[in-house]
Order: sequence, then structure tokens, then C-alpha cells
Amino acid sequence: MALNLGFLASHNGSNMQAVIDACRAGRLDANPAVVISNNGDSGALERARNETIPWFHLSGRTHPEAEDLDREIVDTLLNHDVNLVILAGYMKKIGPVTLATFPGHIINIHPGLLPEYGGQGMYGRRVHEAVLAAGARETGVTVHVVDPIYDHGPILAQKKVRVKTSDTADTLAKRVLAVEHELYVDTIARVISGEIKLPV
Ligand code: GRF
Repeated sequence: MALNLGFLASHNGSNMQAVIDACRAGRLDANPAVVISNNGDSGALERARNETIPWFHLSGRTHPEAEDLDREIVDTLLNHDVNLVILAGYMKKIGPVTLATFPGHIINIHPGLLPEYGGQGMYGRRVHEAVLAAGARETGVTVHVVDPIYDHGPILAQKKVRVKTSDTADTLAKRVLAVEHELYVDTIARVISGEIKLPV
């Protein structure tokens, strides 16, 4: 039976869109079931509306108590029969109830080769700036299982991207993002096929 995917995204949602497109194209045997964003104005929610996927703005504004927010996120995912949670540029920490409800079944994409260039505060453009500042010759993309620590859970897949001497954070971000879109879809396909086993 097709997996039901629940997305958590804070901003543009281009990774989410790549996964939705792959579902629509039949490349993934999965159904985009629900989109949750902590940002009511996010591109991710706009994309959800365009795709007629149920969407919810859930944040510290809608639920000032962290525990209530965590519970509401879980209830929303469960109400849509989600069995795999996809973080796609989600800038908030996943709460303990959500982690306990979907053990090993929350995955994230990071625009760098973890365990380097990860952790709290190391996201988006900051990753690319750090890679350039270190003079690294390669960077890449990591898909990993989410655990209570930022960018820390078991790594499922990585793909390298060469750093060019002419690169700026913007040019690097653009090339890395294109690889993210491919690697996320490819990794989810391998999870669905059973080639990649998620820890339980
Ligand atoms: C991506 O670089 C992803 O790796 C990171 O946040 C960014 C989100 O981009 N976690 P988008 O919202 O998917 O376009």
C-alpha cells in the first residue's frame, strides 16, 4: 500500500515540491497527505494549496505552549494517516511526542556532508558560507533520520558536490539544491522499495 507522506516545511518548500512531483509522476509509490508549516506565509503552504493537499499552519503563534504544539502536530499527522514524515527545510526542532510517535520514520535533508557543517544554527546559506570559508573542495547533501539532536540521526544517503574556485554561497547553494531534489526523491524511493531500512 502506498505510503502517506506528511511534510513539515518552513520556507520555500522546493524539496517538498520535488517529492510531490515524484509522487504525481508515479516515481514514488506514495501519497502527499498533509503539509504543516510553522510559517503561515511560507511558499510551502502556497505549494500545498496549489496541489490541493491539506495544509496547516501550526506554530508558537497558534499554540504558545510547546507541548500543545507537539501534540497538535502529531494529531494532524495521525489524522492524515501519515506513516513517513518528511522534513523539508523545517527550521524548528521536532518535539518529543512527535519523535516518539514516528520512531525512525522522520527524515530530513541537509545541504552539506554531515557530520560536518551541521548542528544548531548551521542551515541554509550558513552551511555554504562555512564550506567556502574552510576552503573545502567538496560539499554535498545528506539525508538522515531525525533524532532529538539537530542534524544528528543515522545517515541514509549522501551525495557529493564539487566546490568550484569561482563559487559564491549563492552559486553553491543553487547547485547543491538541485542535488537535494534528486537525492531526496531517490532516497525516499529506496526507503519505499525496502532497499534502505529505517531504524525502528
Ligand atoms: C534546503 O537547503 C534543505 O537542505 C534545508 O533547507 C533548505 C530548504 O529549501 N534543510 P526548500 O525550502 O526545500 O526550497
